[in-house]
Amino acid sequence: MKKLGLLAMVSGIVGILIASSFSGPASAGGADCKHAKLDTVLVKTACAAGGQKAAKDAMKKWMKDAKKQQADLDCGTCHSKLAPAYPLKADGMQRFKTLGGK
Ligand code: HEC
Repeated sequence: MKKLGLLAMVSGIVGILIASSFSGPASAGGADCKHAKLDTVLVKTACAAGGQKAAKDAMKKWMKDAKKQQADLDCGTCHSKLAPAYPLKADGMQRFKTLGGK
């Protein structure tokens, strides 16, 4: 009987460990970023700090500045779709870099 109690306790601890490994800072602001590989400092840093929501905010802010160079810039200029996966158009990354994105 004692052994069974110990077993329950151990599996309880393992459960807590598993649960807490999913609640790190990256998911604190919601879902993680979807792009498997992040090549920009801007998005990579934002994703690490606050998940996809932070990346979205960072992009919005960055786009505001980039609009000074290209007034008709829109999320759809570089992304073929928006939430939840934000896939890039073939030239999305190139445009980002051309506009001074890092
Ligand atoms: C000039 C091109 C460009 C524009 C305009 C742009 N993006 Fe992006 N966006 C990118 C690139 C390039 C990446 C990938 C960054 C990387 O690989 O590190 C990205 C990544 C993202 C991501 C991260 C996706 C993920 O889950 O991995 C989000 C969210 C995002 N963009 C939202 C937006 C929103 C919202 C707008 C409009 C306000 C916008 N973007 C406008 C180029 C652009």
